[in-house]
Amino acid sequence: MAEKVTLSVIKADVGSVAGHSCPHPSMIAKAKELLDGGVKSKIINDFQISRSGDDMEFIMTHNSGENAKEVHELAWNAFIAAADEAKRLKLYAAGQDLLTDAFSGNVRGQGPGAAEVEFEERKAESVVVFMADKCGPSAYSLPICRTFMDPFTTTGLVIDPRAHQGYDFEVVDVIDHKRVVMSAPAEMYDLLTLLGDTTRYAVKRVIHKELGIAAVISTEKLNITAGKYVGKDDPVMVVRCQSGFPALGEVLQPFAFPALVAGWMRGSHYGAWFPCASEESTPTFYDGPPRVVCIGFQVSNGKIQGIEPPNSAPGKHVPVDMFSGKEWDYVRNKAMEICLYIRGHGPFMPAIVSPDELEYTTRPSVLKKLEPRMEPL
Ligand code: F6R
Ligand code: MG
Ligand code: MG
Repeated sequence: MAEKVTLSVIKADVGSVAGHSCPHPSMIAKAKELLDGGVKSKIINDFQISRSGDDMEFIMTHNSGENAKEVHELAWNAFIAAADEAKRLKLYAAGQDLLTDAFSGNVRGQGPGAAEVEFEERKAESVVVFMADKCGPSAYSLPICRTFMDPFTTTGLVIDPRAHQGYDFEVVDVIDHKRVVMSAPAEMYDLLTLLGDTTRYAVKRVIHKELGIAAVISTEKLNITAGKYVGKDDPVMVVRCQSGFPALGEVLQPFAFPALVAGWMRGSHYGAWFPCASEESTPTFYDGPPRVVCIGFQVSNGKIQGIEPPNSAPGKHVPVDMFSGKEWDYVRNKAMEICLYIRGHGPFMPAIVSPDELEYTTRPSVLKKLEPRMEPL
C-alpha cells in the first residue's frame, strides 16, 4: 500500500504592521528559515507560507499523520521566531496568538489553529486551502452545506455516481466541546438545525464513506482557549477536490454569495464575507471586511505542486490564487454594498453580534454603575 501523506495547515496571528492588518515580510522570512530547516531535517517534506490579513498560514506536507508532535513543534517554533521578529520591530500585537510560554506537544489549545488531513495520494490530488481573516469557524458552515449537501450548487451530487451517496459531517459544539457525526442527505434537516446556530456549531470534517476525508476546518475558539478575548479565530479549511469529491468550481461557487459572518471590527460585528487574493487581504475597511482567501495546488509525491510565477527563479512555484480573478470583482462590490448598509446601524444589532458574543464589553460596569438608579417599572 502506498505511503500516506499528511497535509497540515497551521495558522496564527503573531503580530502586524499598523494595527491588526498585515505581518511584516521579515517575520515571514524568519518563519521560512525554520521551516526550511524542517525540510532539511526531514520533519516535513515541503511547505508554503501564505497569509490572509494579519494571519500567517504554514501549509506543510509530511508522513507523520495528524497531530504529529515534531510537526506541531516545528510550526510552533517558526511562529515563535516570527513573533520575536515582530517584537524586535515593535509591531502591533506581537506574539498575540501564542498563549503559552512553552510548547506542550501539540499546538491545539495553545493558540494557533490547525486543519490536518491524512490520505493516500490519488492519481492526481487537487487541494484547496481557504484562509479566513476576522471571522470564526462557523463562517464555513454555509458554503460547506452548499457544496456538500445542495444539488443546486453541486450538480455532481445528482449526476456523479461517486458523489451520489452523499457525505458524513462531523459537527462540533465549540462551546461545550462535544461532537456528533451525521449524514446528508438523510439527516440534512437535523444537520441544518444545528449548523444554523453559528454561535455554537461548526463543521469540523466532511467525510466520503469510500474516498475518506473531503474537508477539514480548524475549529479552535481562541477566546475560549484563552479564557479571555485575545483575537479572532480566523479559521482555515482544507478541501480535496475532483474525482468523486466536489469539482473545484463546486467548492468555490458558494463564495459568490457574500454571506454575513460574525467577526470584523473588534470581533463584534456582522460583515459580508469578502473573497480576495492573498495579496489583497489587508483589512483596509473598518478592520475588514471579513476576508476569505483560497489557494489551490496539487499534492504530488508528498510535495506541494503549484505554478511558476512569471519572471521567477527557476524551480520556484506558488499555489494558484483562486479569488484573484476579475469575475470575483462583482462579488467584492456586492460585499462592500452590504457592508456599508449594515455599518449604517452603528453599534445597534444586527450590525453588532449578540451581547454574549461581543469580544469587548462595557455592559457589566455600566449596569453596575446604574444599579442604584434602576427602578422597578
Ligand atoms: C478584529 C481585530 C480588530 C481589533 C481592533 C481593536 O479581529 O483584530 O478589529 O479588535 O483593531 O484592537 P485593540 O483592542 O488591539 O486596539
Ligand atoms: Mg486575523
Ligand atoms: Mg488578528
